Amino acid sequence: MTQKSRRVRKAVLPAAGLGTRFLPATKAQPKEMLPVVDKPLIQYVVEECLASGIENIIIVTGRGKNAIEDHFDNAPELERFLENKGKTDQVEMVRSISNMVHFSYTRQKEPLGLGHAVLTARELVGDEPFAVLLGDVIIRGPCPATRQIAEVYEETGIGTIAVEPVPAERTHLYGVIDAQPAEPSRWGQRLLRVRNLVEKPQPGKAPSNLAVTGRYVLPPEVFDCLERTSPGSGGEIQLTDALRLMAREHGLCALAYEGKSYDAGDKLGFLKATVEIALENSEFGEDFRAYLRGLKL
Ligand code: G1P
Repeated sequence: MTQKSRRVRKAVLPAAGLGTRFLPATKAQPKEMLPVVDKPLIQYVVEECLASGIENIIIVTGRGKNAIEDHFDNAPELERFLENKGKTDQVEMVRSISNMVHFSYTRQKEPLGLGHAVLTARELVGDEPFAVLLGDVIIRGPCPATRQIAEVYEETGIGTIAVEPVPAERTHLYGVIDAQPAEPSRWGQRLLRVRNLVEKPQPGKAPSNLAVTGRYVLPPEVFDCLERTSPGSGGEIQLTDALRLMAREHGLCALAYEGKSYDAGDKLGFLKATVEIALENSEFGEDFRAYLRGLKL
């Protein structure tokens, strides 16, 4: 495969989940549209794609997810209204959201799991490598995590996933890898060769403390692995299980990426992301910091 055809141009964003962890907030609106400070969750992930050089985004939706399509579409009435009021900054902001990247949508008809959601995007991805970003994980840092793993893929041609250490009492919440050091490379000890992966291992049964963070760059061969994957943890078709086949048949790398993740699919993680992002806000970050300091905790 040439260097050029390894370029990661497309990303799949699974957004078909029912968002039960956030009920009742998600009863009538997609969890991907919950705002963290002033942007819906999914916009953080779209911006990570853009900052990673990816301009084709495939969103896997389901019933009740129309607000996501509307968010990334033009909003002529709103733009006209803001223009008439002379609010040019806001017009620009609203326009830039729809002009960010090229969006395609496909629907997962039944919630059969993350692996099945990715498989739903097969036709739109075609025969090229692609990224997968889970919308409920926000990652912040100097270089986008997706760019970091795309660079490994573009150099090695081997599918690569982002991992991070988690405390032993939290491994049951994640996919967890069993890995060995990779060939010497510019990533040093941060780059590993995956031997095996376990989705949501039972307490005390995790093969390591390295959890799958929710950023993947995969070659198109993963679709055949997904086709052969039966329902696993929670009775769902798991991406992690398909990656076990990938690791055996085509090889798989894991990169301990540089950055900080927030599991915004979880209420506490969502609050932590909200507070930390608010603290950095140029308009009201300082006031918010003063407010927090003044709380009698
Ligand atoms: C999913 C993946 C899991 C991964 C996690 C990261 O699980 O299946 O392998 O570690 O995202 O957040 P979920 O959180 O959707 O249950």
